[in-house]
Amino acid sequence: MSAPRGAVIWMTGLSGAGKSTVAGALHQCLKEAGHASVVLDGDVLRRGLTADLGFTPEDRAENLRRVAHVAALFMQQGFIAIAAVISPEQRHRRMAREIVGEGFVEVFVNAPLAVCEARDVKGLYARARRGEIPHFTGVSGPFDVPLEPDVTLETDRIPLEQAVSRLVAHLTRMGCLPCETGGGPGLGE
Ligand code: ADX
Repeated sequence: MSAPRGAVIWMTGLSGAGKSTVAGALHQCLKEAGHASVVLDGDVLRRGLTADLGFTPEDRAENLRRVAHVAALFMQQGFIAIAAVISPEQRHRRMAREIVGEGFVEVFVNAPLAVCEARDVKGLYARARRGEIPHFTGVSGPFDVPLEPDVTLETDRIPLEQAVSRLVAHLTRMGCLPCETGGGPGLGE
């Protein structure tokens, strides 16, 4: 049997757009189907691997450089590495794509700023609006809308299951998941 083909699912989007939720659901789905995957979540990594970094454009570039290298290592060993990181600027995503090379999938987790702000799960938007958080993406910092993402997920309009099944379909087309089963048991819509 040939070794499984890895990939990097690079989820970019505003804070609160649903990156971690989709990442977790995809991971669970792949796990149930017997495929090795790992979630690299910005919020989690920033407690360890990148705890020394802040949110200036330079620090973010370094944060994302590290995440891309870790994701690439997993990919090379056959994992589907799912990165859930804001990666706000075009150049950040370009860098990640260059580090990872073939197998990089840019996924725009697209929910409007107004929706993310209304959810404000962590209360950060309110604090940013009060001027308490510099460089806060979408409020006091930029977010470049991805120009040519491989997949776009409008998380305010489609159910979570559909977001996951679109990613599974993409991975199947890439040859990372077996197509004869439509991605394997537990995968697909
Ligand atoms: S990235 O821009 O470098 O890709 P990353 O995904 O690692 O960001 O971290 C984003 C998380 O950090 C957010 O989900 C939020 O909880 C927290 N955070 C703290 N400060 C900021 C900020 N200034 N801008 C965006 N997110 C922030």
